[in-house]
Amino acid sequence: MNELKNRIEQLKKEKNAVILAHYYVHDEVQEIADYIGDSFYLSKVATQVDADTIVFCGVSFMGESAKILNPEKTVLMPDETADCPMAHMAEIERIEELRREYEDLAVVCYINSTAELKCHSDVCVTSSNAMKIVKKLPNQHIFFIPDENLGRYVASKVPEKHFIFNDGYCHVHASVTPEQVKAAKETHPNAEFLVHPECKTAVLELADYIGSTSGIIDYATASDKKEFIVGTEMGVLYELKTKNPDKTFFTAGAPQCCPNMKKISLEKIIHVMETGENEVHVSDEVREWANAPLERMLEMAK
Ligand code: 13P
Ligand code: SF4
Repeated sequence: MNELKNRIEQLKKEKNAVILAHYYVHDEVQEIADYIGDSFYLSKVATQVDADTIVFCGVSFMGESAKILNPEKTVLMPDETADCPMAHMAEIERIEELRREYEDLAVVCYINSTAELKCHSDVCVTSSNAMKIVKKLPNQHIFFIPDENLGRYVASKVPEKHFIFNDGYCHVHASVTPEQVKAAKETHPNAEFLVHPECKTAVLELADYIGSTSGIIDYATASDKKEFIVGTEMGVLYELKTKNPDKTFFTAGAPQCCPNMKKISLEKIIHVMETGENEVHVSDEVREWANAPLERMLEMAK
């Protein structure tokens, strides 16, 4: 393992590369990353790093967004099959149909989406800024794509606007059930339940805190409570435990595992850094269209 880590350090210097990693990747990948964070933090960092190459340890939409925001940089994906199924769960035809129906429609696109969907959207959001951005939009009618659960959560916080939902979902978060949460609460009665808004409404209703992966980590770190039940992908446990060695973290049912995030390995990182394989390419046309909602997000989230 140390040999692999040393090789990565060497390659970072040789290639003037930085490694960005989402909290859901394996612990050993988070250990060698220069920047670890939630989707919003990583998209912001991607615009700020001074490097020729970004190695993005996450799923396709993350690497794609980094490339769109930084066309002059080389973006490498350690595994090009690491893709988020939810990113594809919306239809362009439906967007066009609703645009014809509502003159005042804002298509709000969760960053967990393909570049093509972003091209047809007005603004991107992440779980950490969706509420703030939707509130600021001048539009009354909101078509929230692709995640229905996050859309419903945001709608509950912005009741003054009319939402139209789309039936996309994250299979990892949507698999958490209220029964699992209730059972975990019975076993750990002193624990607070912290959950990601990609979970179903019935699960969110049981929460003490709802937020993005960074939000969950920050909440637990600032809290004077000692026990927490975590309703998100198990990768966050690495940062939670590192920052809070005196606190105990449980999961609701078996730990939630995103099979695509877990495809990233140290060996694959070395391979793409050595060979330049799996470089992210986005056509100029797609870049131009998809960049606008991403830039608008960065601006509106300030
Ligand atoms: P955040 O890290 O922005 O909370 O997103 C969670 C997620 O599912 C990323 O794929
Ligand atoms: Fe997609 Fe869910 Fe995996 Fe995030 S955790 S990449 S939303 S499948």
